[in-house]
Amino acid sequence: MARRAVELAAAAGIELSDDLALWSLSGERPVAAPAAGEPEDLGRLLEMSFAPSERQRQGAHFTPTALADDLVARALVGHEHASIGDPACGGGALLLAAARHLAARGEGRREIVGRLWGADIDPLAVATTEVALMLWAESQPPAGNLTAADALLDDLAWPPLDVVVGNPPFLTPLGAHAARDSSTAGRLRERYGPAVRAYTDAAGLFLLRACQLARPGGTVAMLQPQSVLAARDAAGVRDAVSALGSLVDVLIPTRAGFDAAVEVCVPIVDVGSPGPRARWSAHLATAHGVPAVELSGAHRLGDEATTTAGFRSEYYGMVDHVHEETDLPAGTPLVTSGLIDLGRCAWGERPARIGGRPWQRPVLDIGAVGGRAADWVRRTGGPKLVVATQTRVVEVVVDETGRWVAGVPLVVVLAPADRLWPLAAALAAPAVSAWLLARAAGTARTPRSLKVTAALLRSVPLPTEHGAWAEGTDAFKLGDLPAFASAMSAAYGTGPDVGAWWGERATTVWSPVAARR
Ligand SMILES: C[S@@+](CC[C@H](N)C(=O)[O-])C[C@H]1O[C@@H](n2cnc3c(N)ncnc32)[C@H](O)[C@@H]1O
Repeated sequence: MARRAVELAAAAGIELSDDLALWSLSGERPVAAPAAGEPEDLGRLLEMSFAPSERQRQGAHFTPTALADDLVARALVGHEHASIGDPACGGGALLLAAARHLAARGEGRREIVGRLWGADIDPLAVATTEVALMLWAESQPPAGNLTAADALLDDLAWPPLDVVVGNPPFLTPLGAHAARDSSTAGRLRERYGPAVRAYTDAAGLFLLRACQLARPGGTVAMLQPQSVLAARDAAGVRDAVSALGSLVDVLIPTRAGFDAAVEVCVPIVDVGSPGPRARWSAHLATAHGVPAVELSGAHRLGDEATTTAGFRSEYYGMVDHVHEETDLPAGTPLVTSGLIDLGRCAWGERPARIGGRPWQRPVLDIGAVGGRAADWVRRTGGPKLVVATQTRVVEVVVDETGRWVAGVPLVVVLAPADRLWPLAAALAAPAVSAWLLARAAGTARTPRSLKVTAALLRSVPLPTEHGAWAEGTDAFKLGDLPAFASAMSAAYGTGPDVGAWWGERATTVWSPVAARR
């Protein structure tokens, strides 16, 4: 790294100071021939200098240039001559991107560098940022602007900043951290209170810290795992951030190149103007093109039906009693998520995976099942709706006679027999998928899918236009997709954009009973 710094400086004709931390950390100030490049090269070298396991542990993933550019461009909107901080600055990619952005507006490089603030727990990262900025500005950052510190726990002697950016570490949950280092976990709890939960990602705490470092009227833009928008254990972070400012936007990076194995997003927070408690996952849904839907109905599914889902113990209680129908003709068909389509169950037509192996026509030996699993089978054995849990749109089937056992993790909706079809049509309605995604985006296995839970289904508002709802129910039974979408849009009072969005997602899973008759 020190050698590369010398090469870059020599190529650019820049005199590096003798007192740079990089020299003392490297044990020497090397001599090297000029070799041209960019200051950002040093951050890449820094990342490569970690063994993969160490990189994972420190959460040190250099920010790709395109992503850094997009992030700072958004963060700097509305800020002239901004002071900018990055509390996990690594090799300085984001500070450099911000500096370049300000220079492109005509601001002088020396002045810009004087307004940049960086911290990193790793002294070599801080030293790298220092050299990188010096190479860019031909001027050493002021003493004290770059600090080796734990930005979550140490007091940074920074002024309140106009803009705070960052690509903080996405570290393993604090639960694991606590087991390793209970004093750090305890101090984090002390400092951030209820924002720290067992599985809170440290990146969320950096977002909160960034909001504390920004001045009222300032902006925070910080890379985060998408789970920060909806995960249960990030709720404390969302609450604490919302008390300091407003989430005004969420960028979903589209330009490739980020190396961490998670889906990421960049929440944009206007600090100092706490607005109405925004629904963070709604921003993610919007960023993924889900139309915004407000449902006014005061009557909810939970007013008419009971929703329930099985747990692991129910699953394990059943899995040993599954047979092929040919071996147990009297068994009860067992349906899995993979067999649930929109409006239709494909049991017996395509294989299902249960207990790690495929089954052609899986049946359950109900008499052999005991404990909680037996209770689950008893409770959900009658007429019901069965709803898949990880899907692109709500996929629901009607079991009018109670001929199936619902596997885990399906959600079962129990309602009077004459309400099953209307309630299925309501849940399958385009508006409901959009409404649910605005509440649950970011919680499913993939960012575009919907994770349905029993609690969420209970809260679904029912249609207010009863005539249109009845028409939609008939169309659902008949498998007439356009008529269904149009009637249910009228039933919920939503526009054609919602139906068009849903239609594009739904065609791949739409296989209602009548269409196959
Ligand atoms: C993803 S890297 C930053 C990358 C940087 N934005 C870049 O692209 O060069 C995350 C950085 O956070 C640092 N870090 C980890 N825990 C920290 C803490 N508690 N305080 C400050 N920095 C920390 C790591 O040393 C690492 O350099």
